[in-house]
Amino acid sequence: MRGIVLAGGAGTRLDPITRVASKQLQPVYDKPMIYYPLATLLEAGLDEVLVISTPTDVPRFRELLGDGGQWGITIRYAVQQHPRGIADALLVGADFADGEPVTLILGDNIFYGDLGLGGLVGSFERGAVIFAYPVRDPQRYGVVELDGDRVVSIEEKPHQPKSQLAVPGLYVFDGRAAEIASQLTPSARGELEITDVNRRYLEAGELTVRRLERGVAWLDSGTHDALLDASNFIATIEHRQGVKIACLEEIAHRCGHLDIDQLRTLVDGMPPSAYREYLEGVITESAP
Ligand code: TTP
Repeated sequence: MRGIVLAGGAGTRLDPITRVASKQLQPVYDKPMIYYPLATLLEAGLDEVLVISTPTDVPRFRELLGDGGQWGITIRYAVQQHPRGIADALLVGADFADGEPVTLILGDNIFYGDLGLGGLVGSFERGAVIFAYPVRDPQRYGVVELDGDRVVSIEEKPHQPKSQLAVPGLYVFDGRAAEIASQLTPSARGELEITDVNRRYLEAGELTVRRLERGVAWLDSGTHDALLDASNFIATIEHRQGVKIACLEEIAHRCGHLDIDQLRTLVDGMPPSAYREYLEGVITESAP
């Protein structure tokens, strides 16, 4: 399965931070934000990724991430001319998906813990899969109402949420998603809503939900406080455990995309930093 990271948007809530570089290029503790959603895709076994961003930011992402070859994966790029909504990613990415299933993740969504995404994409056949995560302020998100594991309703930013369960920015769709997105009309806020795509699958009886359990953290980083919280969260876990979260070189090695010699060559080319030191430790640990 292929993966799409949607990393455009305006990032107005983070102004003035986002005046010259987009939200997903900002640091979350020790690495750029986009590393985290990319890591989620890599850990799930996806090795062909499309990064979608604005006309000004695509060249910057290309500079940061290249063609993915350094991590043994393929990264391509596409421009979203205007922030027309999250469902627009399915249209911008239609050629890339080529009628096959895709996993779509938002570039400012950070997941920590076992999502079971690898098993899910490995056995995925048809329909759409969303996740559900309990939050204190569901009215800011898509909200899903469940009866057991069955989806009863899904609403975008409801004033009176029917549950506490928010829908994180991570979705798995079958090959019909682009066609469904092409039939949507923009919402009152002028966007093609991913919730409307999900609702079409629900109406067809083909929307499945996975609850993210307590051991999983889902953070978004769209406001100043959320960005700081995300950095503090990552720093706390990394300091405590002595491991890095979303270290793409390490993940690429553990997933078998880079052998130890390729990892060593990559690390040799890095400037001295704590990040490099960490990877040198990974090499020492896993060298035969
Ligand atoms: P949002 O946080 O909803 O929007 P935003 O990033 O434009 O921020 P703000 O509200 O502060 O102006 O977007 C969620 C994610 O989806 C984020 O990573 C940006 C991305 N996105 C796009 O790339 N294109 C779009 O058309 C939209 C709506 C969002």
